[in-house]
Amino acid sequence: MSSENITSVTRENRKFNPPDEFQAQAHIGSLAKYRRLYRQSVNNPEEFWAKQAEELLLWRKKWRKVLQWKAPHAKWFVGGRLNVAENCLDRHLGTARENKAAIIFEGEGGDERTLTYKQLYHEVCRLANVLEGFGLGKGDRVAIYMPMVPEAAIAMLACARIGAVHTVIFGGFSSEAIKDRVNDCEARLVITADGGWRRGKVVPLKENVDRALEGTPSVEKVLVLRRTGSRVRMKKDRDIWWHDVVPAAAHVHRAKAFDAENPLFILYTSGSTGKPKGVLHTSGGYLLGTTITSKYVFDLKETDTYWCTADVGWITGHSYVVYGILSNGATTLMYEGAPNHPGPDRFWSIIDRHRVTVFYTAPTAIRAFMRWGDEHPKRHDLSSLRLLGTVGEPINPEAWMWYYKVIGGGRCPIVDTWWQTETGAIMITPLPGAIPQKPGSATLPFFGVVPKVVDETGREVPRNTGGKLVITQPWPSMLRTLWGDDDRFKRQYWSDYPGIYFTGDGCRQDEDGYFWIVGRIDDVLNISGHRIGTAEVESALVSHPSVVEAAAIGRPDEIKGQSLVVFVTLKDGVKASEKLKETLRKHVAREIGAIARPDVIRFAAALPKTRSGKIMRRLLKEIAAGGEVKGDTTTLEDFSVLASLQKAD
Ligand code: WTA
Repeated sequence: MSSENITSVTRENRKFNPPDEFQAQAHIGSLAKYRRLYRQSVNNPEEFWAKQAEELLLWRKKWRKVLQWKAPHAKWFVGGRLNVAENCLDRHLGTARENKAAIIFEGEGGDERTLTYKQLYHEVCRLANVLEGFGLGKGDRVAIYMPMVPEAAIAMLACARIGAVHTVIFGGFSSEAIKDRVNDCEARLVITADGGWRRGKVVPLKENVDRALEGTPSVEKVLVLRRTGSRVRMKKDRDIWWHDVVPAAAHVHRAKAFDAENPLFILYTSGSTGKPKGVLHTSGGYLLGTTITSKYVFDLKETDTYWCTADVGWITGHSYVVYGILSNGATTLMYEGAPNHPGPDRFWSIIDRHRVTVFYTAPTAIRAFMRWGDEHPKRHDLSSLRLLGTVGEPINPEAWMWYYKVIGGGRCPIVDTWWQTETGAIMITPLPGAIPQKPGSATLPFFGVVPKVVDETGREVPRNTGGKLVITQPWPSMLRTLWGDDDRFKRQYWSDYPGIYFTGDGCRQDEDGYFWIVGRIDDVLNISGHRIGTAEVESALVSHPSVVEAAAIGRPDEIKGQSLVVFVTLKDGVKASEKLKETLRKHVAREIGAIARPDVIRFAAALPKTRSGKIMRRLLKEIAAGGEVKGDTTTLEDFSVLASLQKAD
């Protein structure tokens, strides 16, 4: 898509300065201080990052060189050695944090558990010993498919501790998705649970794993946590109960130091082809990026009770439930279940009861809360909150204002944080005590981040003009490659503008230099804050015997941001019916997961294509939105397709 098509319609002029009291206590309490540090960070990045790495992390061996940059490959803290789990745990022992809550957990059914830093350390040590007992170590891949329980974080940290590489698979993904991911990274171990609680029902995690492992030759063992008590099949010689081995293991473990560039995790995310991309993050740079952003964006203090509602299966859960927060020695709250179970006030009840101070969630959730009604938050005392955050998609100003007034009581700054799985850490964001906020804008770049809005040729566009968002300098928490596919890494992110990272997002900078993200401009949809590749949905559909061809597109949706509409052409002789629609919906959910279940299926005799055979999604979008096709149709191969599509059911 060319940048002329990136139009940004939002024109929002309201501005909210950080409240005086917030500013007075903030780590970065003025715009001038932000600007001074920002200038240092981009003028002398190596000096800046070296200083931060010394201050914020514990190194076993100092690096020789801060950055080795041979675009598009970066190495940060070359020669440096550290242990990520030691940074998140051991270094808080013997300090006042030792007996402080590291994780406060609330299950969907209301069960609660708190793990202090010392307790969490011992649990991670036990599991690390078990994993080493399985013969796992540096570089081995471990898949984690767990509910949102402390053991998910324990599993991640135990992998990090022994130098193994975890890949967390979101618990909403299907067997097919597990199989693809496990095979792509050749995981030797899967850590899962008998199930997890969601809206009062058990999500059958172990069953999904069992089905997936019918086609995964690399997997040797499955470690199973008992969470729900539901009956599961344990395969002899392969499956082991967590409670049979972990509690019995030694509660101390000597952490080895690993290279700063040792892979920490692979996280699969949607791209513009059917195959998910395995984004690879390494140790030192990733931990520094998540630690420094956690500290300054969330303005973390010893007294905070911080709650990020993301699942650990997403990057937000990695960076801002686990690594960045624990590395700062803060208290992270984990909640297992749905936001509306047993009632639509569950989140507010959690904030009230645990006296949460910093709350980080997604715009799609905020829009749902708005719809459920103000009476639910109003029933609870939310006065403990001092800072709010959002992530995952652009937040519409109306939702921002509601969040600000109804949840924040007009007293809490809102950090609208723009970043990606690939960036590892927050990139564009207000610093809450320094940068005035405009509803709907992620505002200004974080330290060390140099974003630009450019046209097709890579030239910066004038202010208030739409263009593509790129990042022009390397940053410590950047992805290093795509697992097993460095060519795709180069093509995907670095080929539009050589040496410059292309984000896939459209953007505009306003007269104050504030960034306004418009959304994806590639074939990736953002549904309820989740990235879903149109190609993935399409290939799932055409794998069904009734389907010849499919096109998936996003339609604006009040709550979900976008809803998923698919156009499907059927094989000759297959009859279109409501029943078939339901079958296809279920088929997609089985192939990918419930998050990709189409909202609307429309059968069509043919899809609109260009002469070279490319599906013209733009036309389909206009049709799905219920409007007339207004744009240019001169490249359309067969005009009769349009007329019949508008009638398609
Ligand atoms: C979108 C989530 C506008 C964007 C951390 C990006 C946002 C994609 C924002 C990454 C925001 C994320 N404002 N858009 N504050 N945050 N996005 O990899 O399109 O799941 O490219 O990472 O979400 O999604 P991902």
